Amino acid sequence: MSRHFETEAIRNQTERSQFSEHSTPLYLTSSFVFDDAEEMRLSFAEEKERNLYSRFTNPNTTEFVDKIVAMEGAEAGYAFATGMAAIFSSFAALLNAGDHIVSCRSVFGSTHGMFNNYLPKWNIETSYFKVDEVDLIEGLIKENTKILYIETPTNPGLDILDLELIGNIAKKSNLIFIVDNCFATPYIQQPIKFGADLVIHSATKLIDGQGRVLGGVTVGNKKLLREIYLFARNTGPAMSPFNAWVLSKSLETLSVRVEKHCENALKVATFLEGNKNVKFVKYPFLKTHPQYEVAKTQMKLGGNIVAFEIKGGLEAGVAFLDKIQMCSLSANLGDTRTIVSHPSSTTHGRLSIEDRLEVGITNGLVRISVGLEHVEDIIADIQQALEL
Ligand SMILES: Cc1ncc(COP(=O)(O)O)c(C=O)c1O
Repeated sequence: MSRHFETEAIRNQTERSQFSEHSTPLYLTSSFVFDDAEEMRLSFAEEKERNLYSRFTNPNTTEFVDKIVAMEGAEAGYAFATGMAAIFSSFAALLNAGDHIVSCRSVFGSTHGMFNNYLPKWNIETSYFKVDEVDLIEGLIKENTKILYIETPTNPGLDILDLELIGNIAKKSNLIFIVDNCFATPYIQQPIKFGADLVIHSATKLIDGQGRVLGGVTVGNKKLLREIYLFARNTGPAMSPFNAWVLSKSLETLSVRVEKHCENALKVATFLEGNKNVKFVKYPFLKTHPQYEVAKTQMKLGGNIVAFEIKGGLEAGVAFLDKIQMCSLSANLGDTRTIVSHPSSTTHGRLSIEDRLEVGITNGLVRISVGLEHVEDIIADIQQALEL
């Protein structure tokens, strides 16, 4: 019988050393030694599976990757220094000059920047569909299309895309279906079940969960991961053993942390729905969410991010942030500390209104990454900041 998620998170552990330690030690070593020339030859020829050099593999990164592979129901994986390193390296490994990508327009800002500013250097173009234009995807697919890419829930708009529907389109056209599963975590949603070939995470967010380290990971199909591994092995975007050690430890508590994050987030969302200065609230597990039914089908819980539109637009959004006392104004998410942000005056401030609206960022949109403080204290801070 295969083990449960929580058990994999804890018991999927590097073999004990001669010291019989209970918890996995930190393997701060750049390289590994060989007994003789033959062992070294076999290792470099990949005829013997073992650690060689920490840019390739290290016991700590392997433990972290093995856990995510088990949690996502994947075949293989590789850990990167950041989420963006995972995204860029996966695309760079799999694409050739002249290939084409179809992506949802609502993707993380740096991912969009990579599609628009860097991949075109290699003549790789991206065609976009909006979250409510899934029926247009097939029309965007060309002979040279290789990858279909989405995030769900989207950042920061919190839209939900139908994984099964899009997975079927990818399969029909023989495309590599890649899902950024960062907002959900494998505890809430496992895109491979719905047809994803690869799943990418920024481990910096809920996987770390305490705002301490950066990390990224790509898991999925073994053959594709082999390409990604070889690319990464030679170009060097690897996760550090220290970060892997921290992140593997964080995974041990992922299920309980995410349960509590989501419980708090639902309470915050419900509170916001009843506030007179709030125009609308977006949270995947509120019945008012436009894709509530899809969210319920593919997600176990609603996640820790709540978005809402404050009455009074840009000015009210800025005033709200200024009045916040306990919660943090910060660029991260998925931390134990609740973080509030106002994308149209900060992260997306340089985009035109039209470009912002394309990804669902209205002037008064506020994003809250609900943390693990007592929910009454989180709500009290939000409530006093909303009193305009
Ligand atoms: C959905 C999503 N994907 C990827 C990233 C990039 O991750 P990192 O900051 O670890 O490079 C982020 C960062 O906020 C994100 O929100």
